[in-house]
Amino acid sequence: MAEEGDTAVVEEGRLGRSMPRHVAIIMDGNGRWAERRKLPRHFGHKAGVDAVRKVVSACGERGIEVLTLFAFSSENWRRPAKEVGLLMELFLTTLQKEIKRLHKNKVRIRLIGDLSAFPEKLQQRIAEAERVTADNDGLTLVIAANYGGRWDIAQAAARLAGQVKAGTLEPGQVDAERLAAELSLADLPEPDLFIRTGGEQRISNFLLWQLAYTELYFTDRFWPDFDAEALDEAIASFGSRQRRFGMTGHQVESLKGA
Ligand code: IPE
Ligand code: IPE
Ligand code: MG
Repeated sequence: MAEEGDTAVVEEGRLGRSMPRHVAIIMDGNGRWAERRKLPRHFGHKAGVDAVRKVVSACGERGIEVLTLFAFSSENWRRPAKEVGLLMELFLTTLQKEIKRLHKNKVRIRLIGDLSAFPEKLQQRIAEAERVTADNDGLTLVIAANYGGRWDIAQAAARLAGQVKAGTLEPGQVDAERLAAELSLADLPEPDLFIRTGGEQRISNFLLWQLAYTELYFTDRFWPDFDAEALDEAIASFGSRQRRFGMTGHQVESLKGA
């Protein structure tokens, strides 16, 4: 017999789905893709934008609700200044170029991360893109920029501390649910499927909290070579797995049948 609380994962639609609601991707391997072609790394980032375009429309066509893309980590500032500068430029021009088409396709854009570190002009363009697309009811496209999973948890903790200071929260009331409510993606379903391209099998400070029960998928393919077909391979892998959320396989089967 399944316990009563277990039905929560069913209600959230996290059991027995063959199509993920939320896909989160670490788009890795741009630099190596370029280096293999004896091109400067920046060409790989540019080619990566084409892959983003393909995957965004493929997700929309498949009825995926949320796509979160890791575009720039809080650790990527450690790269050579020139590469960082070119990446900032690429963000800016891409946002400018793509916004109309995304809006037309009913995509809702959201940025997560510490945006205060970005050039003023980029911050303005981000705010504008979010504002223009806010009421769209198609795919929610979340771009993680200057994002770090540790930063996310720390900023959530800081907000709770503020509530404690203001006297609206007791320290003893701080629990996982309250902390989760202050995280960047609190209003969206948690990722069902995580994809990392480029061959590395690590999280690199992406969504640390939110990935607790996400299915992980790694591929050697470099990000610029990722396309709708590659996405379907990842989705097929997702669909073949039994998610158990701590329960037994038998419990899961009986809950799915319920
Ligand atoms: C990912 O590709 C893009 C960003 C981090 C901005 P990389 O630039 O990390 O590519 P590799 O891993 O060096 O090949
Ligand atoms: C993770 O890739 C960040 C993004 C794809 C934006 P990295 O290339 O920065 O990760 P590490 O340094 O290899 O772990
Ligand atoms: Mg990399």
